[in-house]
Amino acid sequence: MIINQKEYKSVWWEHNRLYAIDQNKLPWELSIVEFTDYLQVAQAIKDMTVRGAPAIGTAAAFAMALAAQVAPEDRFRVSLREARKHLLETRPTAVDLLNGVNYVYEQTIKFIPDIKHCRQVAILAAQEFARHSEEDCRTIGEIGSAIIQDQSRILTHCNAGALATVDWGTALAAIRFAHRQGKKIFVYVSETRPRFQGALLTAFELEQEGIPHSIIPDSACGFYFWKKEIDLVITGADRVCLNGDVANKVGTYEKAVLARYHRVPFYVAAPLSTFDLGCIRGKDIPIEFRSEEEVKQFAGVPTANPSSPALNPAFDITPAKLITGIITPQGIFPASEAAQKVQKYYE
Ligand code: MRU
Repeated sequence: MIINQKEYKSVWWEHNRLYAIDQNKLPWELSIVEFTDYLQVAQAIKDMTVRGAPAIGTAAAFAMALAAQVAPEDRFRVSLREARKHLLETRPTAVDLLNGVNYVYEQTIKFIPDIKHCRQVAILAAQEFARHSEEDCRTIGEIGSAIIQDQSRILTHCNAGALATVDWGTALAAIRFAHRQGKKIFVYVSETRPRFQGALLTAFELEQEGIPHSIIPDSACGFYFWKKEIDLVITGADRVCLNGDVANKVGTYEKAVLARYHRVPFYVAAPLSTFDLGCIRGKDIPIEFRSEEEVKQFAGVPTANPSSPALNPAFDITPAKLITGIITPQGIFPASEAAQKVQKYYE
């Protein structure tokens, strides 16, 4: 992605260290964080310094590589298991995290007892995971741009951009490619309370790319559907089930309902790492609940009655039947068929 005319990735590996853009500081400050041990990465995933399903999957894969560099020879497997457990406890909904961690773990332990080789393999496996993730997103952009007509007005929710992935994004990759193809598009960016990923991050990425857009309050989406100013909805995903149900940032479901009511196509974009072939339906997906404080204050400033409790589900489930299609690196499929199609690719 381009930030201030320079090329960046959201997370990257250099000189045996992991680096990431601190997403909690954007759009005010472009700050790069360096990680030398897996516990630091786990903390960064928890506090959302690194966030977005493919980005946390890749960061966690590299965290496993960091863990492998220092795991004692006589407790190598046990130490890696401890690291895996710790990383998996950070955030429960995005399956990319599980896929990234498990991929590096499985590849690495194959070479026990040659621990020196295991350590090298851990880095190579994490790099491979990151490369696939980035390529998937680029391909989603190419394929997904085909559904965007010239003059389209598109609604997106949360941040499914380059920051949320290694690069390119998912929903935003399609939008990015359409814009680069010269299509005149306009993007409605729903603010995405309570963490404001839309207002802070998606808007930042669109501005950097010169894509016309406006931030709208989450509660204004219905108004713009009613005005017939939304031609298409594209969101990302944190987990896609076998039956095509999708977990994504809370507020996605209501946009899908609005889209169906107004007969507007609703697409989800997801790389292979976001598919959970072991999860049958949406209600089997663990939904993360975050702190009350996120709802009751912003940047430390109270925005709610202090003594009222608050509920803060971070994700919701959009049933397959509300989804027009899932944009994958393998093509665009009806939601109910997408998992089977990508399963063939896995095999
Ligand atoms: O809580 P977050 O910010 O990690 O949630 C991110 C989202 O819900 C994104 O829309 C999703 O990860 C798709 S990202 C390419």
